[in-house]
Amino acid sequence: MAVLAQSPLIIAHRGASAYLPEHTLPAKVLAHAQGADFIEQDVVLSRDGVPIVLHDIHLDATTDVAERFPGRARQDGRFYAIDFTLAELRTLRAGERRGADGEPVYPHRFPANPGFLPIPTLEEEIRLITGLNQTQQHQAGLHIEMKGSAFHQAQGLDLPAAVLQVLRATGWDQATDHVFLQSFEPDALRYLRDELGTPLPLIQLIGENSWHEDGGVDYEAMRTSAGLDTVATYADGIGPWIPQLYRVKGASISSSGLAEAAHARGLAIHPYTARADDLPPGIESFSALHHLLFAQLGVDGIFTDFPDQSRAFREQLQNATPAE
Ligand code: G3P
Ligand code: CA
Repeated sequence: MAVLAQSPLIIAHRGASAYLPEHTLPAKVLAHAQGADFIEQDVVLSRDGVPIVLHDIHLDATTDVAERFPGRARQDGRFYAIDFTLAELRTLRAGERRGADGEPVYPHRFPANPGFLPIPTLEEEIRLITGLNQTQQHQAGLHIEMKGSAFHQAQGLDLPAAVLQVLRATGWDQATDHVFLQSFEPDALRYLRDELGTPLPLIQLIGENSWHEDGGVDYEAMRTSAGLDTVATYADGIGPWIPQLYRVKGASISSSGLAEAAHARGLAIHPYTARADDLPPGIESFSALHHLLFAQLGVDGIFTDFPDQSRAFREQLQNATPAE
């Protein structure tokens, strides 16, 4: 399969999520049609242990759960996917993401209300992409993030094992199958490699300590030389937050050194998330963002809400680079 010959990889973040509600099957079909090299799945488990494609461990921000199941929130007021069976989850309708105030996070994207699309299981989504790979002149891989593995474990469910079981059942579990597994939790990646024995490439996502997520993982330490040395013992790449890769001084943008340090250790770099309608600090245009990531920093892949535009920028930059 030719997909990995492409570089940097265009990874459709939650599908073509700039154009259709995140993690719905239409968003994945469009990402495939737009030529994404990989399509991302964030995965959590239902109460009966079925992997579903959903960004949050909560259902509040992207579904109508509060209207359909009033009284099923926990004491913190949130509706947790793990408290609902697959049969119950199938009755929900997903739509564009809304903030805590109920307003759409990206008001110029797909209309937020009412949501009218189902939540897919991981198996359904993989079968969809498998089918499109068979019927279209394009091959896309899977880039699967396990959300809250420690949270699931504390509730008695094994998220990494459940994901691997679906990959085995659908025939996507071999190193040649163009699947990346990603997590913010080092323990989940070590478990996948050391105990579950997966041969699939692993991407260590890097957040910010100030986000107070993922059980107190020290991401600042992870970005040091010693931290990256450790990551390289169990992972094949890193997924940094884009602002971690550069420094802004006046009008000048320079590398933070993280990309060079990761590459020196043989780690691939798949930063998140490129959004034309939400540029990172100090970056003046979507084109400038791609120039920074692709031409200056030489990243190996990019999570993007706009796979069509990111792919076009990759082609532009490749055409502008004289052949050696
Ligand atoms: O997994 C890469 C990127 O998607 C991480 O951020 O919050 O969108 O899952 P998030
Ligand atoms: Ca993700």
